[in-house]
Amino acid sequence: MYLCQVCGYRAVKWLGRCPGCGGWDTLVEEPEGSRRSRGGGGRRASLLRLAEVERAEFRRYSSGIGEFDRVLGGGLVPASLVLIGGDPGIGKSTLLLQAAGEYLRGGLRVVYLAGEESPAQVRLRAERVAVPGDLELAAETDLAAVLETLGENPPQVLIVDSIQTVYLPDLSSAPGSVSQVREAAARLLRWAKEKGTAVFVVGHVTKEGALAGPRVLEHLVDVVLYFEGDRSGPYRILRAVKNRFGPVDEIGVFEMGERGLSPVANPSAFFLSGGGGAVFPALEGTRPLLVEIQALVVKSYLAAPRRTCVGFDPWRLSMLLAILEKHLGISFYDRDVFLNVAGGLKIREPAADLAVCAALLASRLEKTLPPETVFCGEVGLSGEVRRVMGLSVRLKEAARLGFRRAVVPSGTSPEPGLPDLVTLSRVEALLEDLS
Ligand code: TYD
Ligand code: MG
Repeated sequence: MYLCQVCGYRAVKWLGRCPGCGGWDTLVEEPEGSRRSRGGGGRRASLLRLAEVERAEFRRYSSGIGEFDRVLGGGLVPASLVLIGGDPGIGKSTLLLQAAGEYLRGGLRVVYLAGEESPAQVRLRAERVAVPGDLELAAETDLAAVLETLGENPPQVLIVDSIQTVYLPDLSSAPGSVSQVREAAARLLRWAKEKGTAVFVVGHVTKEGALAGPRVLEHLVDVVLYFEGDRSGPYRILRAVKNRFGPVDEIGVFEMGERGLSPVANPSAFFLSGGGGAVFPALEGTRPLLVEIQALVVKSYLAAPRRTCVGFDPWRLSMLLAILEKHLGISFYDRDVFLNVAGGLKIREPAADLAVCAALLASRLEKTLPPETVFCGEVGLSGEVRRVMGLSVRLKEAARLGFRRAVVPSGTSPEPGLPDLVTLSRVEALLEDLS
């Protein structure tokens, strides 16, 4: 059956437009019987007292790659389904092959389903990143057949590379379609729980809205990891955006080299480019990380001036520009504004506001930012500077890397080992810090 995802209209064949609600491209193939009737009668469910539930005692599998284990929340949990997403060519297959090698060396059985590349290509790459020869390959994209074969003697780890290339023969739609991707993942999830196998699923992020991309799977899987970073540069950031077994927003930092990805254990300094931007002590998961925020403000010749962000939310930039216009009386409406977070990191924390404002003001007013200074604080709509979480961890990291001054919200109390504090209660006070 084809089911409209918006209004629930059912059709026997696919239609471009739903006759029920008029929505375009909303019909998705669903296997018959996957939606059970909700009538009364029939089977009864049993309830358990919490104290009667058996404690789940899991031993995590360590990959020996510290940065990878860290993002997983301390290692791979048996029977879990982990999605690894990212742009094509960013390093998903490379990382998983390397992890496979380490799991093998640790005595686990690992099967790699290669749907994207031929076994010969996989071997070539596996040898480059030193994967032992006893890695088992399934050069097959019929997922049902692979699971059938593995069912008798399930491995501890299964890698499906990628979810967009495998298919279930009982669905008629093509591999990579929403229904195939979703059903294949659901089948893998049930299989993982039943067999106790930890399953990695690779998903390519597709450019246009990611319809059949990893996003449709996020709610289903236990762990979602995304690769960030600029493919043209050497650094790759792996971020946990969902983790049922560990903290989210934990990141791992890797460097792509001749022999695959190598962990960067102490990445704080890697995102500092020395480009004269405002330095922001970010907190990614539990890890403080210093990043440089660069701004360029130039006279605009456009009716609607450009606002371009790399690694920062464009809406938040617009908001900060409006705040600066209103409370400092400095015009941006006739300027193009470019904002860049050096090193390919994506900053999502409002705590970066103060650093963004400092970089914007310095470029707009052609002034220099004070040396050896970090900026950290959220800026509210009325121009007030608000306190942020984890300030002391952030500032300790800044001090460790040689920063001597920190511009922070008022109310922050000095502690031994921190940089000298410059406290502000309003964003206007930033001007005093520029020369
Ligand atoms: P890959 O893992 O194939 O990306 P994905 O699976 O996410 O599509 O990464 C491929 C890129 O990494 C490719 O451009 C080549 C580069 N690379 C290296 O630089 N060194 C290496 O040792 C390997 C294996 C790949
Ligand atoms: Mg790949």
